[in-house]
Amino acid sequence: MIILGIETSCDDTAVALVSGSEKKCRILSSVVSSQIKVHAPYGGVVPNLAARAHLKNIRPVFEQALEKAGRPDFGLIAVTVGPGLIPSLLVGANFAKALAYAAKKPIVGINHLEGHLFANWIKNPKIKLPALCLIVSGGHTQLILMTGRGQYQLLGETRDDAAGETFDKVAKLLGLDYPGGPVISKRAKLGDKSVFELPRPMLSVRSPDNEFDFSFSGLKTAVLYQVKKEKKLSPKYVNNMAASFQQAVIDVLIRKTAEAARKYNVKSVMIAGGVAANSKLRREMKEKIKEMKIDFYAPEPEFCADNAAMIAAAACFRNKKEGNWIKINANANLKLVD
Ligand code: KG4
Ligand code: ZN
Repeated sequence: MIILGIETSCDDTAVALVSGSEKKCRILSSVVSSQIKVHAPYGGVVPNLAARAHLKNIRPVFEQALEKAGRPDFGLIAVTVGPGLIPSLLVGANFAKALAYAAKKPIVGINHLEGHLFANWIKNPKIKLPALCLIVSGGHTQLILMTGRGQYQLLGETRDDAAGETFDKVAKLLGLDYPGGPVISKRAKLGDKSVFELPRPMLSVRSPDNEFDFSFSGLKTAVLYQVKKEKKLSPKYVNNMAASFQQAVIDVLIRKTAEAARKYNVKSVMIAGGVAANSKLRREMKEKIKEMKIDFYAPEPEFCADNAAMIAAAACFRNKKEGNWIKINANANLKLVD
């Protein structure tokens, strides 16, 4: 079956067409229109501006995705219904509903986080379960145990800022552009990670109820205190701070993921979400997990960031017999695990 995916949960307007079944899926087209230019002056996403841009972009992005795929007849529409920014989500959900009505096609709601997770399955549809998934995006940092398709257990999550959000905020402190992740990663390559001693939050705290939780706001504050001591930030200072900060985040993510993988005796580990595009995180996580003789997966960088192929893939791979599809609604706080 050919599935049309629609994603507008944050600041990317995305439409994709995939062809597949529960066993495998092939991307026919995937178009993403970024709004970075709209939000960069504000150092973060402004929800109402995002909604306006989605409204302007969604039709041309849909047309482009259709054209690239050769205008196939799709049999199902899959749309992100949460979590995300309500003004943004409403544009995609509304467009999908109108399209479903006009084209007389069925429509299903997809959890954005489940989309990120299934981005891993596009290239590797035979991932062995149980699997551990580290979702690291601008809005979320979660460790999820996946025991079946659509069966998840939340092992831990951030208590304050998400990993991507921390990259964005630290970039702002260093006078770098939004979004912070890509630019910090670039500047870190030019710096020395051992120049600044920064905390590795939640690594020493060990109690059964917070073992796999994260916290990044203290790390951000530690960077702020250091930066405040400087009159002017030299390029060398920024490079060294970017490298030291990035390593602190990576160390925490890898340690917690490896410990959870060991405790739950998983067969595979996957990473997903925008921060999973970070090349150093990918490399070091892969090394650690392979060392543990566990399979490791990460989506291609373009499918780590928000896209609609992952939304269509989630509709493809999800176990339809068990899947009580989510209602077409817009829920800012939609959970992957109740
Ligand atoms: O998954 P995503 O595209 O959107 C959300 O669902 O939030 O993630 C966006 C986040 C941003 O915070 C961005 O700074 C971060 O992912 N990011 C990165 C990198 N590329 C994007 N963080 C670290 N390293 C990167 N290379
Ligand atoms: Zn996302």
